[in-house]
Amino acid sequence: VTNGNIVFAEYGKTAQLSQGNSILDAAKKVDIKISAVCGGHGLCGKCRVVVKEGAQYLEGVSRLESMSLSREELAEGYRLACCALFNRGGTTLVEVPPESRVEQQRLLVAGIETAVSKNPSVKKLLVHLSKSSLENVKSDAELLLEGLAQRGQPTFVRIGYEALTQMPIAIREGDWSVTVTLRDDQEVICVEPGDTTKRVYGLAVDVGSTKIAAYLLDLNEGKVVATASAPNPQIPFGEDIISRVSYASKGEKNLKQLQGVVIACINKLLLDACEAAGVNISDVYDAVLVGNTVMHHIFLGISPRFVALSPYPPAISSSTTVRAKDIGLKMNPAANVYVPPNVAGFVGADAVADVLATEIYKSKSLSIMIDVGTNTEIVLGNAQRTISCSCASGPAFEGGHIEFGMRAEPGAIENVYVDPSNLEPGFKTVGDERPRGVCGSGIVDAVAAMLKSGIINKYGLINTKLNSGRIRTQGVPQYVLSWKEENDVGYDIAVTQRDVQEIQLAKAAIYSGATILMKHLSVEAREIQKVFLAGAFGTYVDPQSAVMVGMYPDVPLERVQFVGNAAGSGARMALLSRQVRESSERTVRGIGYVELAADPSFQREFTEALQLPHKDLTRFPTVAQLLNKDRSGSVD
Ligand code: FES
Repeated sequence: VTNGNIVFAEYGKTAQLSQGNSILDAAKKVDIKISAVCGGHGLCGKCRVVVKEGAQYLEGVSRLESMSLSREELAEGYRLACCALFNRGGTTLVEVPPESRVEQQRLLVAGIETAVSKNPSVKKLLVHLSKSSLENVKSDAELLLEGLAQRGQPTFVRIGYEALTQMPIAIREGDWSVTVTLRDDQEVICVEPGDTTKRVYGLAVDVGSTKIAAYLLDLNEGKVVATASAPNPQIPFGEDIISRVSYASKGEKNLKQLQGVVIACINKLLLDACEAAGVNISDVYDAVLVGNTVMHHIFLGISPRFVALSPYPPAISSSTTVRAKDIGLKMNPAANVYVPPNVAGFVGADAVADVLATEIYKSKSLSIMIDVGTNTEIVLGNAQRTISCSCASGPAFEGGHIEFGMRAEPGAIENVYVDPSNLEPGFKTVGDERPRGVCGSGIVDAVAAMLKSGIINKYGLINTKLNSGRIRTQGVPQYVLSWKEENDVGYDIAVTQRDVQEIQLAKAAIYSGATILMKHLSVEAREIQKVFLAGAFGTYVDPQSAVMVGMYPDVPLERVQFVGNAAGSGARMALLSRQVRESSERTVRGIGYVELAADPSFQREFTEALQLPHKDLTRFPTVAQLLNKDRSGSVD
């Protein structure tokens, strides 16, 4: 037989193949979308699959595959789908790992979904009241509480002021049937005529230093109905956290101004999300907001001044609840905003949300969570012990301080590979539009691909002696990704020497932070069972490229999971579940904090981590292997 079958068991699909077809062809046939940035030329290394059974029916591992996959991976059955050709015979069982699934990547950008049992703080109940009669006059409030008691609600429920003002009219307008909105089963916050139980929404917000992301959720269904995001409007007042702190510290007026722009931005995002989902803003009854400690303080109108001064204490480390209307958020006037606790000066409610979403604190095995942003929070630990730190990694991974950097918008180069035979680049842009710039995931990919193909060396220096028209010096050495003739922006889009340095500084900050945490727990990289890579990148970051540049400890790739905006996921979980809020209080008390600047080995660790992937290659055995393979001769 020259025909055979490729079985994709997880999808319940089987494709028939004939000799010379690849696994990628098989996947296409049965409509399984595998990431294939280079279009099946064996160059991007993104189409990884695992052959579980029937490897003997495939042709042997090609040279291109052995350049993209480590020895351990090959031993485990990893192949590149585009290179693994069917030869003859029977049935081959293939698994598509999450990082190779296009759909999965898209979903992950918004953040992982961690299941929670739904028990939001706010819920609505339809209540039928018995009318008062002249013989037995009862107050409206009494009748309402009686009605609630009939619906199984405790009798100690109190009626809030807004609800009280709405109640008499709502009762008559609804002909003695009203919808009661309850908070924490304790307080009536709203009374509306008739049945509006279907309309109860909440807002989860992640205030990052560079980006604000808002998620509108249907609290009955527990589902996101719309999302909206925007750059943080505080950026003009100071790009990094410290300059924003110093701006806010100059006086009450400045603090109010920073608070005002953030609140206006959230109001706009809420409005946009409501419009997109056809929801009325007065049906939004609850909100959860997460952010680093400085964002947290400014949002609440608390001076962040002391957070930046040794010993960096936050004003509050437990959770807080404020009235939305007291701080100017335009939703239902009775709505509250819940803000989870902070760990320390620079590890805020966003990191707590990350920990909730990744469930590190519940796990027996050791995990590390790295939430990449202008400030990168790292949490290392398990159910026994968890410690955290914060590193000043700068905005490079979000496309900031990068010559042709941009946000992950249509036209942003998000994936890059380099053909090692002729040093020609290939890439994919967001929305498959003509290139306009490079976003965070694109720059990580680009630096990794340049390292792999020898365009840069371990010091990050571009080798201008290489024979390629793409490598040139214009002020500084650079590597051109897209000629101006190939794009609409009217200039060449390149990765410059300075861009590479920005990435080196950023990744060294992160890696040295991770190393110091590992030292504190006396653990080695190989003991880490799970690496969660988080961040509001806006696109999927390839974990393989991230380890290639040395951003996190070299562990087998299947232990690495890109979880997107995990802080946003944690905020959504806290919006949907009162238990999650309670456990966040407990969790935070168990998270230790390490001040990196105070660690005597920090400077040395940082300097060593500036090299690509690291000065000490024994810490990056997989990367070392791939680099050696690549440069060991010509390519077919
Ligand atoms: S599609 Fe297989 S390596 Fe690019």
